Amino acid sequence: MPRGIGRAVVAAALCVAASAAGLLAGAADARTAARCPWMSPTMQPNVRAARLLAAMTVNDKLALLTGVVPATALQVTDGGPVFVGYVPGNPSLCIPALTLDDGPSGIGNGQLGTTAFPVPIAQAATWDTALERSFGRALGLEAWQKGVDVVLAPNVNIARVPENGRNFEAFGEDPFLSGQTAAAAIEGIQQNPVIATVKHFAVNSQETNRYYVSSNVDDRTLHEIYLPPFETAVQAGVGAVMCAYGQVNAVFACQDPALLKTVLRGEFGFRGLVMSDWGATWSTVQSADGGLDLEMPGAKFFGPALANAVATGAVTTETIDRMARHLLVTMFQRGIFDHPPPARASVYLADVSTPADQSVALRLAEESTVLLKNAPGTLPLRLGRGKSIAVIGAPAGFGDMTYASGGGSSFVSASVVAPLPAITARAAKAGDTVVSADGSDAGAAAALARSSSVAVVFAYDQEREGQDRPGLELPAGQDQLIEAVAQANPHTIVVLDTGGPVLMPWLDEVAAVTEAWYPGERDGDAIAAILFGDAEPGGRLPETFPSSDAAVPVATPDQWPGANDAQDASFSEGLDVGYRWYDKNKVAPLFPFGYGLSYTTFSYSHLHVHRTGSRFAVSFTVKNVGARAGSDVPQLYVDDPAAAGEPPKQLKGYQRVFLRPGRSVLVTLALNARSFSQWNSTSRSWAVTPGLYRILVGASSRDIRLRGFIRQP
Ligand code: BGC
Repeated sequence: MPRGIGRAVVAAALCVAASAAGLLAGAADARTAARCPWMSPTMQPNVRAARLLAAMTVNDKLALLTGVVPATALQVTDGGPVFVGYVPGNPSLCIPALTLDDGPSGIGNGQLGTTAFPVPIAQAATWDTALERSFGRALGLEAWQKGVDVVLAPNVNIARVPENGRNFEAFGEDPFLSGQTAAAAIEGIQQNPVIATVKHFAVNSQETNRYYVSSNVDDRTLHEIYLPPFETAVQAGVGAVMCAYGQVNAVFACQDPALLKTVLRGEFGFRGLVMSDWGATWSTVQSADGGLDLEMPGAKFFGPALANAVATGAVTTETIDRMARHLLVTMFQRGIFDHPPPARASVYLADVSTPADQSVALRLAEESTVLLKNAPGTLPLRLGRGKSIAVIGAPAGFGDMTYASGGGSSFVSASVVAPLPAITARAAKAGDTVVSADGSDAGAAAALARSSSVAVVFAYDQEREGQDRPGLELPAGQDQLIEAVAQANPHTIVVLDTGGPVLMPWLDEVAAVTEAWYPGERDGDAIAAILFGDAEPGGRLPETFPSSDAAVPVATPDQWPGANDAQDASFSEGLDVGYRWYDKNKVAPLFPFGYGLSYTTFSYSHLHVHRTGSRFAVSFTVKNVGARAGSDVPQLYVDDPAAAGEPPKQLKGYQRVFLRPGRSVLVTLALNARSFSQWNSTSRSWAVTPGLYRILVGASSRDIRLRGFIRQP
C-alpha cells in the first residue's frame, strides 16, 4: 500500500474491487510473482521500477511513453467513451494499462454517475483546506471506482487576466491560496490508489491563441507568482505534472529544460511523471531531452518518431530509461500496480456519487458563496405569512442550460438541482410562495418583481476552455434585466453564477448580491439554504473584482491577448498581479481580494508575534460579536521593506474559523523564512532582505484590523 493511503478509503475501495472484479486487489499469485518479481509490494517503488526496467526492451519502454487516442482506447477497454487518455499496459510484464480523466470539478469526460462538485474558483473561495481535502478524497475514490488511474487535476494557473476563459477552473490570483488549496486537493485525491496531476506547467494564463502564445515573463515573477503553487503541489507529493500549451519566453513549455529540468526536478525536487497537455508536444528530440516523459493523447512525436530517434542515436537509451522510470516509479508509488480498479466495462454505468460525496458538494457550494452586498434586513430572508418571492433569470432553472459547471474538459455531466424548485420548496415551508420568470423579457420580469415582496435575479456568464471572455460585462442584456427588476422592487437580490469577476453597473440599486460561482450539482440546495439562512454564505473572494474593464492590472493589448495577434503576451505588470497591483497603484477595486460578508460580525484583537529561530507564530483573537453563529476567514499579509522591491502586501497565512455568538478563538498562523524571502535571479535562490516586515491581519486585503512587525534578520 502506498504511504498515505487512508485505511478506510482503501478498505472501501478494495471491497468494491473484490465484488466488482471478483479479485482481491493486490493479491499477486505465485505464478505472477515468479514471472514479475516487481509485483511484490514489499519492495520500495524505485527498486521495483529498476527491476522492471531491467526486464524491458527499448520498445517496451517506448510503448509506455505515449498514449493512444480515445477511439482506440474505447476498443481496448470495451467500456464507454469515458477516458480522455489511455496508455496501454503490457500484460507479459504485468504492467497495467493507465487510464486518465479530468479533472478539477469532478470525474468528467462523459463519465456517468460521478459528482459534479463546485468549480475550483469556488473551492478556493472557501479558504477551507480541510473541506478541500475531503473533496479530493471523494474525487479520488470516485475516479478509482470508475476505473480511472490518473486524475487530471488540480489546475493551479494563476488568474492573471480576469477574462481568461478558464478562470473558473483554477484557484484565483494568489500563489499562496492556490498552493494551499491545491495541496489539500492532491493529498485527498492521493489517499486513494490514483495519481493526481497538477497542471498546466507553467503560466497557462489565457485561452486566446493558447497553443502558441508566448508568455514573456521575467524569472523573478515566474518564481514568486506563477511557480509557487506547483512547488507546493510537489511538496504535497503530487504524482504527475502536466506541461502546458504555449510558450514561456519563446520556448514551448513541454520541451523547456529550464522549466522541466532546472526548476521542476532541480529546484522543486520532483520525482514523478511529466505528461504533455493534449496536443502540447511539438517535437521529438527536443521534448525527450527537454524533460517530457509522456506524450498525450497520441503518438505524433513520440512512438515511431522517438523509436527512430533512438535508433539513430539522436535520443539516448538513458533518456528513454529515465522517462519510463518516472512513469513506473509513480505507478508503483501510488499503488497502481497493487490496487487495480474494478473491471472498467463493469463500472461504466455505476453510480459512484455517494451521499457523503453529495454533502461535500453541498458544503463546498455553501462555503464558497460570497456575500458581496447585504443592505440591512435583506438576507437572510425573513418572510413568512404568505409573502411572495419573484425568482428571475435563466440560471434559476429555465431552458436546457445549467450554470453549475464551466465549459470544456473539466465539465462534469450530472443532474443539477436547479434553484427554482429548491427555493419554491423552501419558501413553501416558510409559508411563502414563489413566482418566476425566465428573464428573457425584462418588462415582464419587472412587472412580476413589482407585485412581489422580494425579487431574486440569477445572472450568469459563460466561461469555457478554448476562448477568453470578450470583456467583464454580463452577457445577453442581463445588466438591463437587473436594472429593470431593481427599479421595480427595491428588495432585489442578485445571485451571480459566474466563473470570475463581472462588472456590476447596477450595484447601488440592488439590496443584496451573492457570488455563487458555478456551484456544481447541489446548486439549488445551496442557494436556497443561504437565502433562507439555513446556511451562511461562507466564501471570501480568491480574486479581485475590478470596477471597470480598464482599471485592471492587465489593461493593454500587449499584455493581453498579446502583440502580433496574440503571439507575444508581455507580462510587463511583473509581480503586480491581482491585489498586488491594486494596492501598489492605489486603485479601488469593486470588491477586493479576500472580501466577503457574513450574516454575523467579528472583531479581531490581541496580536502577538513569537519568534523561534527563523520561524514565527502570529497569534490573535477572533470573536463573533454578532447575533448568529458564523464563520470568518482572518488573513495574514506581510508587507516587505521597501528595499525588497515587493508589492505592498502579500498573503502568507489564513484560517477559516467557525464561532457561535459571543465566542472567541485564538488563531495561530505560522510563518517561516520563505514568508519573508524574495527570489534572487542572479544567485538563483531565495533570500531575506534585511529590514522591517509589517504583519497585517485582516478580514480582506483591504480591511486590515491588526498590525505588528518583525525585524529581519
Ligand atoms: C486541457 C487539459 C485537459 C486535457 C484532457 C486539454 O485541452 O487543457 O486541462 O486535462 O485537455 O481533457
